[in-house]
Amino acid sequence: MCGIMGYIGGKNAAENVLEGLKRLEYRGYDSAGIAVLDNKGTISVVKRQGRVIKLEPLIKNLQGGAAIGHTRWATHGRPCDGNAHPHSAGRITIVHNGIIENYAELKKQFTDEDETFFSETDSEVVAKLINKNYNGNLLCALYKTVCVLKGSYALMAICEGVDAIAVAKCKSSVILGFGSGENYCASDEPALAGKCSEICSLEDYDLALITRKSIQIFDGNLNPVSRTKRPNTAVSASLDLNGYPHYMLKELHEVPASIKNTVSAFPEVCGSYLKAVAGADRIILLGCGTAYHAALIGKRYFECFARIPAEAETSGEFRYKNPVITKNTAVLAISQSGETADTVEAARLASSLGAKVVAVTNAPYSRLTRISDVSVPVEAGSEICVAATKSYTGQVAALYLCALAFANGGISEKELSELEKIPKLCKTALNDINVDSLAQMCAQSHGVYFIGKDLDYAVALEGSLKLKEVSYVPSEGYPAGELKHGTLALIDGNTVSVALMFDEKLSEKCSNAVEQVLSRGGKAAVITDSETIANKFRNRCSVIIMPNAGKYLSPLVSAVAVQAIAYKCAVFLGRDPDKPRNLAKSVTVE
Ligand code: M6R
Repeated sequence: MCGIMGYIGGKNAAENVLEGLKRLEYRGYDSAGIAVLDNKGTISVVKRQGRVIKLEPLIKNLQGGAAIGHTRWATHGRPCDGNAHPHSAGRITIVHNGIIENYAELKKQFTDEDETFFSETDSEVVAKLINKNYNGNLLCALYKTVCVLKGSYALMAICEGVDAIAVAKCKSSVILGFGSGENYCASDEPALAGKCSEICSLEDYDLALITRKSIQIFDGNLNPVSRTKRPNTAVSASLDLNGYPHYMLKELHEVPASIKNTVSAFPEVCGSYLKAVAGADRIILLGCGTAYHAALIGKRYFECFARIPAEAETSGEFRYKNPVITKNTAVLAISQSGETADTVEAARLASSLGAKVVAVTNAPYSRLTRISDVSVPVEAGSEICVAATKSYTGQVAALYLCALAFANGGISEKELSELEKIPKLCKTALNDINVDSLAQMCAQSHGVYFIGKDLDYAVALEGSLKLKEVSYVPSEGYPAGELKHGTLALIDGNTVSVALMFDEKLSEKCSNAVEQVLSRGGKAAVITDSETIANKFRNRCSVIIMPNAGKYLSPLVSAVAVQAIAYKCAVFLGRDPDKPRNLAKSVTVE
């Protein structure tokens, strides 16, 4: 992961890069740093553990027209000033996003020669190598260096006395921005929003040499190549909290708009989507974290609506298991960012084995979109909070439409209008439900178990992930029937079991699990859309009533409840729900 950005031109480079880094903080916020090349050709570096804002006072006296910067999510080496990027060696200074898998053996060559390393990172060795390979040509030194690297990298390098930025890319994204008398490079589009009119994406193994006046791109054999330019439509996410105390709460209130916009966008892509998946006899849905939980729901939609075998897998497992794929397999790769390394590589693998790949993503120009046959948009808008809220409900809505369209050869007005009712129900839920006492109960507990059956179980997994992610309260999601096969041993007065019951037929069975929890002295809560179920448990445990959206669309409504509980619990415990410890929004490394 990590966000990186470079600028060269007539403006104050450090200020420009700082602004870009602020917009890339969703990629990591363990530390940040900037290196500036001044007009005399000297490089100055500032870096600090913590958020990008800490650099603001440090760059005040840094003048210069070229700079590279980095915001870090630590992979190798703990978060501290010393491990913060940029890293320097001799005349060279670099920033790196990715993982150098053979760093230890490369590093040994230098330590054997008594070279000192100043960090515990895998990246510092890259600076050493470029410096060693430098013979008056920065691009050639970078080229020689990447030839021996294994792993993933988006690299930017500057050199004392050389008015240029050299860039290299393998598996991690690099976007170049074309300006007038100035040019840009960044790991992701938001950094370049409003900065230049055209951008392009580098391909794997590409290198580029960026000066004030030009950008030259080379392929992995150092042959000049051109990459397709596109208008720079990147918009910087509005950082306005709109009166909300946190982005998580703001984005939770944007769930209705996310569903509405995703539904409105689908008819336009329905034809190309159906063309891509025509003849599929098996569906595989892939994703990580929350996107995987959306995949679990999508799997059930395909099975129920189209009666076609469907599997949901985490991308990280799928890509290493030698999967069985035929040309009649359709893979739906789900990702908010479209940049998650495991999902991109899993989709690439599926495609190379002959599957048709459908990207279900919020990011139209992401790596995932570029390697997929077709893209189904999730119109959640920008999601700043690390915890996914509105993107999850957008993904579920998109998958519902994909499965229905596949089953029926298209989407009818009637089906669309069913979905169009859901945003209003979510809005009602957001305004009416009070999860305060349940969230407080969770905050005071030793552990929270979310349980449910079928679709409710998939939402239970998401509720559990959300709660642990933002509140750090230990939590697990279970199929309700599994409780008695082990987890019941953990139930005591310090635990809370939250049962989701949105399927009338299965509620009886799930009720049994709640009874078992209560009879063993555990605390319990029931979230349901049924008055009958609510009456059964009222006065015996905490009950939250949600609007009825029908069995298949209920996850869109029940998700709002579990997301609200997680948010409130985090707030009670004084956590920052928008930037939980140890995490990043976009996970671009393995
Ligand atoms: O960008 P992606 O949807 O591919 O991200 C996948 C996961 O990293 C993400 O959903 C993560 O689990 C969320 N932070 C959970 O709230």
